[in-house]
Amino acid sequence: MKATTIAPANIAFIKYWGKRDERLRLPTNSSVSMNLSAATTTTTVEFSDSYQEDDIQFVDDEATQRETTRIVAHLDRIRKRAKSSLRARVVTQNSFPKSSGIASSASGFAALTVAAAGALGLTLAEKELTTLARLGSGSACRSIPDGFVEWLAGKTNDASHAYCLYPHTHWDLRDIVAIVDTEKKKVASTEGMDGVITSPLFQTRLAAIPGRIARVKAALQKKDIALLGAVLEEECLDMHRVCQTQIPPLYYWNDVTRDIIRAVGEWRKGGLAVYFTIDAGPNVHLICEAKDEQVVVEKVKTLSGIEQVIINKPAQGAHLI
Ligand code: DP6
Repeated sequence: MKATTIAPANIAFIKYWGKRDERLRLPTNSSVSMNLSAATTTTTVEFSDSYQEDDIQFVDDEATQRETTRIVAHLDRIRKRAKSSLRARVVTQNSFPKSSGIASSASGFAALTVAAAGALGLTLAEKELTTLARLGSGSACRSIPDGFVEWLAGKTNDASHAYCLYPHTHWDLRDIVAIVDTEKKKVASTEGMDGVITSPLFQTRLAAIPGRIARVKAALQKKDIALLGAVLEEECLDMHRVCQTQIPPLYYWNDVTRDIIRAVGEWRKGGLAVYFTIDAGPNVHLICEAKDEQVVVEKVKTLSGIEQVIINKPAQGAHLI
């Protein structure tokens, strides 16, 4: 009754920002992402009748009451599916700074879902694992299939699932994450996106998304970095414009974030095919092809204010180890 899972975080090329149904975590739009090889969560779940209550252990820091409650609620969903009332011990560790704009809830809930289902002997198809993970954290459903993934918004629990667009071996991209701040976010994505409806730009954003998804898919199919990069930046800036015009407004960037955005523009003028995207935090994800990895890393390291650089390749989805 024990299982260990490793799950990747993912970077959203087209972002999930808004829920049509809070309880079921149904998103307002479909999204597309890439799994990250060097930003992972490893989780062990063990069920036993000797446990009186769930015990949640984070290896690197203390689980907050809020985090524990959310994890226990997810264990309850999985127990219900397996018709089990056994309590669990959960031990979890991230390979990257938590709550820093790398989606720790994505890798965390993907790992928890696959490990807990495995430990209870639930045999679920990948599609079902993605819908189950989604109930824990929306973006977690994209960390289950292999490589490059689309999460179909759907209007019902079963329809809102994620699937592999292309395996991780399809295109040797890099996501070089420039960590500029490892502090915990002041406003978590969950609360942040609650205010999305108050932005006057939200409807315009929703109308633009199907076209962007089509362009991202075409770029992935053709392995066209310039096409992918153009959509990435347009989408990132659009999501952050929505954040900044919500009530209350959310400003996730800091001065270093802005310096990097400016530098990327300069590097591109110099012929380097590198593009930025940013989730709900100040850290910048620099997307390029494998052949440009060295140059991009060297350039990033010349900027001031960079605390750490994480180099990711496209990765497999969550799996038992
Ligand atoms: C900006 O998946 O963390 O990273 O469903 O409330 O847990 P909850 O939200 P979460 O939101 C991720 C938002 C994002 C964009 C993305 O990953 O698509």
